[in-house]
Amino acid sequence: MSNTKNHFHGSDLEKIESIYNIKKEEIINYSGNVNPLGVSKKLLAKLSNHVDVIGSYPDRDYTALKEQISNYTGTDFNSIIVGNGSTELISLFISMINPKKALIIGPTYSEYEREIFLGGGSSHYYRLKEELDFNLEIEHLKNNLTDDIDILVICNPNNPTSTSIYSEDIRKILDHCKEKDIYVMIDETYVEFTKEMDKITSVGLTKYYNNLFIIRGISKFYAAPGLRLGYGICGNKEIISKINSLKNPWTINSLASYAGEEMFNDEQYIQETRDLISTERDKIYNTLVTWNNIKIYTPTTNFVLIKILKEDMDSHKLFEHLINKKLMIRDASTFPFLNSKFFRFCFMKPEENEMLLNELYTLLK
Ligand SMILES: Cc1ncc(COP(=O)(O)O)c(C=O)c1O
Repeated sequence: MSNTKNHFHGSDLEKIESIYNIKKEEIINYSGNVNPLGVSKKLLAKLSNHVDVIGSYPDRDYTALKEQISNYTGTDFNSIIVGNGSTELISLFISMINPKKALIIGPTYSEYEREIFLGGGSSHYYRLKEELDFNLEIEHLKNNLTDDIDILVICNPNNPTSTSIYSEDIRKILDHCKEKDIYVMIDETYVEFTKEMDKITSVGLTKYYNNLFIIRGISKFYAAPGLRLGYGICGNKEIISKINSLKNPWTINSLASYAGEEMFNDEQYIQETRDLISTERDKIYNTLVTWNNIKIYTPTTNFVLIKILKEDMDSHKLFEHLINKKLMIRDASTFPFLNSKFFRFCFMKPEENEMLLNELYTLLK
């Protein structure tokens, strides 16, 4: 075991390699929240036949790419903006709003707070209650959305709690925010993994609310975090044009742009992913819910948050035991409001999930 407490993100495989002396290729990563099917074989074949696209600049307006995203999401072409991963769009939208005061629903992904801080603003958290299994109380949130707030940030489905908010409830939040002149940014990075995607996504609401900006990416569902491609959807043309004017040209390289033109109509890959995640989610939930030494929060997407109830075990010890077996989970103690009893893992292939559950059973029984 290492003496110091290190904290790792799902993408920190190089750090793990050097600290634990394990080759990164041998690690099963239950921490990255990435589709276990890997990049679609069809897409890989197409990409390898088109590597020559790197010989030209990408289309500065990314017209073909935006047309594909428009078809895929069922939204107007002019409501779409593309970026270098969802991270670039989170950053651009926040820079454009330049919020003095932000409200973030948490515990959640840390990048929003970092971007707000970089712009000189202050972040305040609306705390999801553990006793409500981290589900949101809409009316209570509304009471906290006061006139001095410039932006509300929602991750839906939320990382790390795996809870989702239905769009009918998002609508209530948007109505309230509209009255108070508050922008709303919703990060839907994990929405395609949910069973009830049509009821959860707020993409359809961009037609009606000019204070709404939705972030989507391809790193997780399409298993291509190295491609760096993301997109934003916003019905407010002024916002889209302001962000375009802030943005550096060509931040999506021509290979990523080509991949984006091809990946969204790979129906077979999309269905296989949704079926696999849905089956594994149910199986894992039904197993873990019977264990006495943990509390499982009902997952709606491709990962699950768990609280350890066993006294002599914590998320750091659990991480260390498992990494020595080359299984990498996410110690969730660094998320705001969580502590060293929480961990998260994502659903991988059936045999990999079984392997993790067997090890967890030994350590947590
Ligand atoms: C909620 C959430 N949003 C965005 C990202 C980053 O996505 P991208 O690779 O598209 O920049 C992550 C990565 O872990 C995430 O968990």
